Amino acid sequence: PHPLLIAIDGPAGAGKTTVSKMLARDLGYRYLDTGALYRGVAYEVRAAGVAADDDAGLERVCQTLQLEFRDSRLISNGVDISGCIRIPEITMLASAVSARPVVRQALLDLQRSLGRAKALVAEGRDMGTVVFPDADLKFFLDASVRQRALRRFEQYGEAGKQTLERIEQEIRQRDANDSSRDVAPLKPADDAVTIDSTAMDVRHVVAKMMEHVASLI
Ligand code: C5P
Repeated sequence: PHPLLIAIDGPAGAGKTTVSKMLARDLGYRYLDTGALYRGVAYEVRAAGVAADDDAGLERVCQTLQLEFRDSRLISNGVDISGCIRIPEITMLASAVSARPVVRQALLDLQRSLGRAKALVAEGRDMGTVVFPDADLKFFLDASVRQRALRRFEQYGEAGKQTLERIEQEIRQRDANDSSRDVAPLKPADDAVTIDSTAMDVRHVVAKMMEHVASLI
């Protein structure tokens, strides 16, 4: 069967990561987590003491940026930062810096080079619209805000120490940031298959995606 490039976009907490990883595993494809790249930029921006709206500072950070994946760990300038990029502060900073054109431009070539070989499931916000407009198959995975907040809440568990209300508020804020920015706003590609996972478990979502894959290979 000929290898596909599959794009999966959608808002925070819709289940993209779980579903993308399962789909990639079932198909024997590689998985590309582009959100991790924006988180990596945010991590370096914070380390450099640069403000999220300081475009000159952002450009400086991006120029020396050296992001790569090694066995699904995110390596930045030689250091494994995977353990530091999921905290709420970096999450919100990633959302803020991802609205800046200079950051999106810097990550565009990197994402395309990482996605050059097919047999790939690429996850993000603009995979189908901007980064891989020629993807063979595009999904837009959505779910209600309440449901997305609940899933995050359960994921974080006791260790997260965040209330459901707080998580829901953060998700609303990120939705607003991601959807309202001028460059590559979060929206389904014209040719995307939208799946609402509010009342579906991950297995069910993956099975539905597999039906579309099967019709192509
Ligand atoms: O998917 P994840 O939650 O890890 O993404 C973190 C942030 O990175 C998102 O809130 C979004 O602002 C940004 N992002 C983006 N474009 C992508 C992937 C992520 O703007 N392709």
